[in-house]
Amino acid sequence: MLVDTHVHLNSKKFDDNLEEVIERALNNDVETMIVIGFDKETNARAIELAEAYPFIYATVGFHPTDASQIMPDDYELLVKQLKHKKVVGIGECGLDFYWDKEFIDKQKEVFRRQIELSLEYDKPLIIHMRDASEATYNVLSKYSNLKGIMHCYSGSPEMAQNFIDLGLHISLGGPVTFKNGHKPKKVAEMVPLDKILVETDAPYLSPHPFRGKMNEPARVKLVAEEIARIKNISYQDFAKQTTKNAYKLFNIKENE
Ligand code: NI
Repeated sequence: MLVDTHVHLNSKKFDDNLEEVIERALNNDVETMIVIGFDKETNARAIELAEAYPFIYATVGFHPTDASQIMPDDYELLVKQLKHKKVVGIGECGLDFYWDKEFIDKQKEVFRRQIELSLEYDKPLIIHMRDASEATYNVLSKYSNLKGIMHCYSGSPEMAQNFIDLGLHISLGGPVTFKNGHKPKKVAEMVPLDKILVETDAPYLSPHPFRGKMNEPARVKLVAEEIARIKNISYQDFAKQTTKNAYKLFNIKENE
């Protein structure tokens, strides 16, 4: 019934309990998980997981905080991986001025390369943006026909509208459930139902009442329940709609 559109089951933190974590997800309404790569190692592991489980798909990309280390050769492997039948997106990529202010130009260059690959191979972008709303918008707005996700979106409702106008989806995670999560709650209210997605970003950003603990995909249900409450629709209807959005964007056939 739900798609966790952003989960890092490829993180070493899941090595010890992967089977249990997957089992709990399947027992909590999760029917599909998109495992997001962010460097060479996690890209390869995401594909490995997608090959092992029918309900897991992968994305491959280079995270902005690693931008300074990306070499021209690295894109050759990325392109090869993009052609894999279970690789459904590119990223996470984007801009992060919170963790890295030193290599901003290089971050932009690595981001642009991935935007161009997204357009060339028709795979949605998974966009990470931290303390970089304006800069991210400025890079993206030079392109048209964009397809992708503002992942665990933490910007303002006004900027969310700008990203939607560029053709992008807005995905919300654990912070929308926090008592002081006023901004994501406002964003949840304004994003049209056909543009919204849910995610965990596990092992990070556990929703309330597990804030601060290691996150897992089963908890995407808590995110969906909170957004349904904010939007004043039933959990069932919201789950159905957001899952439909995810399958359409990632070009995945609904398992019936
Ligand atoms: Ni992530």
